[in-house]
Amino acid sequence: MSSTLNSVVVLTGAGISAESGLKTFRAAGGLWENHPVEEVATPEGFERNPQLVYEFYNQRRRQLLSDEVKPNPAHTTLAKFEHDFHGSFLLVTQNVDNLHERAGSQNLLHMHGELLKMRCLNSQLVFDTSEDFTFDTHCRCCRSAGNLRPHIVWFREMPFHMNKINQALESCDLFVAIGTSGNVYPASGFYQTAKIRKAYTVELNLENTGSGFDKRIYGKASKIVPQYFESLLV
Ligand code: APR
Repeated sequence: MSSTLNSVVVLTGAGISAESGLKTFRAAGGLWENHPVEEVATPEGFERNPQLVYEFYNQRRRQLLSDEVKPNPAHTTLAKFEHDFHGSFLLVTQNVDNLHERAGSQNLLHMHGELLKMRCLNSQLVFDTSEDFTFDTHCRCCRSAGNLRPHIVWFREMPFHMNKINQALESCDLFVAIGTSGNVYPASGFYQTAKIRKAYTVELNLENTGSGFDKRIYGKASKIVPQYFESLLV
């Protein structure tokens, strides 16, 4: 890796929030095991049974807002690194929780949406919410029921902020993926985009995902993320 770092892009996945008490998606006992993904994370599933989908995200929102769930040292390390690093820093997360924000991260893009937001199907306006909402909830724009959906990117939908993300990937010196299985495109291809532009690529994960990163460090995020990013600032 070049000695002078000017631009860092970090991608996080469910693994960075696992030690904060939020389930990952594909580990045994992971999130999807209670619900087939087709039922709760696709436009067709929402069309077929909106009540189940509202309840699935209401449950996850309630869990996120419970006292037990808070940022762990991996989240706080990324916020501190962003503050102390002299160059440009972008944090892209596949997670829909707000733990990066609560840890103090600023330049942050949620490419798969946010649990604490809802979107009107008519106006496409997005509203903050920390409450349950269902088919009967009135949206603040149409002032009628039946128009609100979770502001979450479902399978076969386009992730958010892709232009900004690709621009950052094409000009970064260092790309670090943390706590993601690399199962879902386009996030799983980000390290290749960075590599084409000669970035150094690092994977910090609990297990080997078999991807072609330049460097791979295995372990729990709350341990390996502070160790790695502190070494960058030395
Ligand atoms: N520390 C570091 N890594 C961990 C930890 C931990 N404590 N616990 C689990 N992991 C790793 C797992 O080994 C796995 O490789 O985190 C990864 C989580 O992978 P997934 O459960 O597939 O989650 P993610 O990669 O974020 O999924 C991507 O898929 O389902 C869609 O939209 C959803 O954003 C999600 C996307």
